[in-house]
Amino acid sequence: MKYIITGGYKIDGKISVDCAKNAYLPILAGSIMCNGEILLHKCPKFSDVENMCSILKTLGLKLKSEGDTLVIDGSNAKPNFVPVETAKLLRSSIFTMGAMLARFRRARLAYPGGCDIGLRPINLHLKGLRAMGVKITENHGILNCDASNLHGGRVVLDFPSVGATENLMMCATLGHEHTTILNVAREPEIVDLANFLNSCGAKISGAGTSTIEIEGVEKLGGTEYTPIGDRIIAGTYLIAAAITGGRIEVSGCNPQFFASLIDKLQYSGCVLTVKDDKIYLRSPKILKSVGFVETATYPGFPTDLQAQILTMLTVSRGCSVVQENLFESRYKFVPELIKMGANVITRERTAIIEGVPYLSGAEVYAKDLRGGASLVLAGLNAHGYTTVHDIMHIERGYCDLDKALSSLGACVKKVD
Ligand code: EPZ
Repeated sequence: MKYIITGGYKIDGKISVDCAKNAYLPILAGSIMCNGEILLHKCPKFSDVENMCSILKTLGLKLKSEGDTLVIDGSNAKPNFVPVETAKLLRSSIFTMGAMLARFRRARLAYPGGCDIGLRPINLHLKGLRAMGVKITENHGILNCDASNLHGGRVVLDFPSVGATENLMMCATLGHEHTTILNVAREPEIVDLANFLNSCGAKISGAGTSTIEIEGVEKLGGTEYTPIGDRIIAGTYLIAAAITGGRIEVSGCNPQFFASLIDKLQYSGCVLTVKDDKIYLRSPKILKSVGFVETATYPGFPTDLQAQILTMLTVSRGCSVVQENLFESRYKFVPELIKMGANVITRERTAIIEGVPYLSGAEVYAKDLRGGASLVLAGLNAHGYTTVHDIMHIERGYCDLDKALSSLGACVKKVD
């Protein structure tokens, strides 16, 4: 499947974003620990979510859809083995580890997959779980975990890893011990996972700060929950308006969650107004370079918006520098942008961009989720036709991106 984009149409309209992929996925993993019925509303149709649901079914959970609500019954969950070919489809399969260890005190799973944006090790997950008393052996890419001696205490993360924070937090949720995890990630999606678990009866405090405290509880019941809006999709739409000289109103996500992007867009000459969960952007005739963008853990500039803003900078007047501090190989989309006339040089984790007046349409290939979405943004700006191939990467985290952008005035067609 591919997208065929006719460039030159201004984005002009209103859109509400889906629930956040990176909130929904750990919350789905968390449902493994719950004994009661869970109603998860506004389930987004991302392929990563579909794959996570198939993992839950492998673990014996019963799932059914009622409209856009996912009804989950985990009463018959079992610590079954998740086949390698399923586990390697997504990074989030690793989140089932903490949840299974909490509920069953054992787990057997393969190494996770995920976007090819770097090595994606899980050493921080394993180090933290071992510090909590989990015995983990690794053979032929399979992790065998025994948490019969799971205990509380203080665990320090060497780096505020989002996934490791979520895994350790879930592992400590059930039991009779108190666990303190230090140097944790502070992303809004972590707060959302903690809020979800607390609504099921967990006792988690401090999420959103760099220290999380967990009081183990006997068991978790059911709940009804709506995860937060997707700040990365919201940011992608704002940049779509900016790169086409258009205007947009994005709703459904707390603008506070992407304040760092708002700051950069204002610096580029866009006019943004924020009201409740709505953000309105009007683009200038000509975008200005924003100087230096460096990705960081929350609340710094999100790595998941790095490709999108870099793409915008290729048609912003002046020179900009982007520094990708989170992942070692997150510029795979740049050679595709260069095919479209972008003037970018990358060295290791640094990209230097000299803005050009506009891009030109070309045949380009998505290599990962956010880089792929950025090629679509480039196509919106480009003169002529752009074909973005291998859009399965994009569909992992964007639902019907073609329809969404076409509803905003763009011309994007999905074809075989
Ligand atoms: C989560 O990935 C997100 N995925 C990523 O979104 C996001 O880019 C990332 O957090 C950073 O915000 C989901 O939530 C499903 P990390 P995760 O552990 O948990 C290194 C997207 O496009 N690290 O915070 O894998 C790692 O290599 C995806 O939606 C270790 O060294 O990110 C990276 O350099 C892409 N050892 C850095 O930490 C570990 O054990 C940040 O990774 C774990 C991570």
